[in-house]
Amino acid sequence: MKKIALLTSGGDAPGMNAAIRAVVRTGIYHNLEVYGIERGYAGLIDGAIRKMNLGSVADIIQRGGTILHTARSKEFMTPEGRQKALNNLKTNGIDGLVVIGGDGSFRGAIELHNLGFPVIGVPGTIDNDIYGTELTIGFDTAINTVIDAINRIRDTATSHERVFLVEVMGRNSGWIALEAGLAGGAESILVPEIEPNYKEVVERIKRGIERGKRHSIILVAEGVDSAYNVSKKIEEMMGIDIRVTVLGHIQRGGTPTALDRIIASRMGGLAVELLLQGKSNLMTGIKGKKIVEVPLDDAVNKKKELDLEAYNLAGILSI
Ligand code: F6P
Repeated sequence: MKKIALLTSGGDAPGMNAAIRAVVRTGIYHNLEVYGIERGYAGLIDGAIRKMNLGSVADIIQRGGTILHTARSKEFMTPEGRQKALNNLKTNGIDGLVVIGGDGSFRGAIELHNLGFPVIGVPGTIDNDIYGTELTIGFDTAINTVIDAINRIRDTATSHERVFLVEVMGRNSGWIALEAGLAGGAESILVPEIEPNYKEVVERIKRGIERGKRHSIILVAEGVDSAYNVSKKIEEMMGIDIRVTVLGHIQRGGTPTALDRIIASRMGGLAVELLLQGKSNLMTGIKGKKIVEVPLDDAVNKKKELDLEAYNLAGILSI
């Protein structure tokens, strides 16, 4: 292995830059040439490949987003697109590829592996929905952004004695809602993994009002329904006025937390080591503070279950 390349793909996540830095510097440390591919698989198809050096990743560990840019490529979904991508890797003499992204990006990585090209995945998505790793890069920053927003909403909610619904991202997963809700002290948390019980939500709000609570904050994962629809339902059931805040893409930006920088650095470093060991079709992950390797097929095909214990606890703490 003499030359490796890396790309970021799918939704960006804070900490991706720390992972890029780790891959580039670990590669150079091992005397590899390291190439950055711009705009994910789209850039790989277009041949947007540039050589990276130690300086190309200076001053980025603290920056959100991805300096390599990212995209969701339709062309890569086709066999012709993948062949073009593979040809570009080969004509540039690249021997292995690190893909930083989520499950869609890993499906692409598996396709390259099946064409005989060594690939290692590094999980980067705010959704924390990847099997085989307790954390994905960006999740910790995202939930901290959400709890900061909840703190601010709480101020105005208390002043006006209002009920607020806060919609968070997560695609089909409730991890952001669950952990931000637990850390932010939400009254109810609605997640796609559990059938919403609106009667219970209403009862909780009523109990709160009875004991003199001046506000209620309900977190709704986007995978459940639009917070506007949920708010209509609750308004009809209770006859009260609810305010809705959709946090949207602010959850994807911002300077990464220490935890995200650390896991990104460690997983990026391991990805290069795995390529050097001649391995492929693996993802780096974190389990009990240890960095581990996970089959990419598992990461993509197995479902990461929501932590029901934590979910139940959040319910108990907000009685
Ligand atoms: O996967 C990350 C994520 O932010 C999801 O939480 C969200 O559903 C989706 O990406 C939004 O994608 P886009 O930025 O393409 O609208």
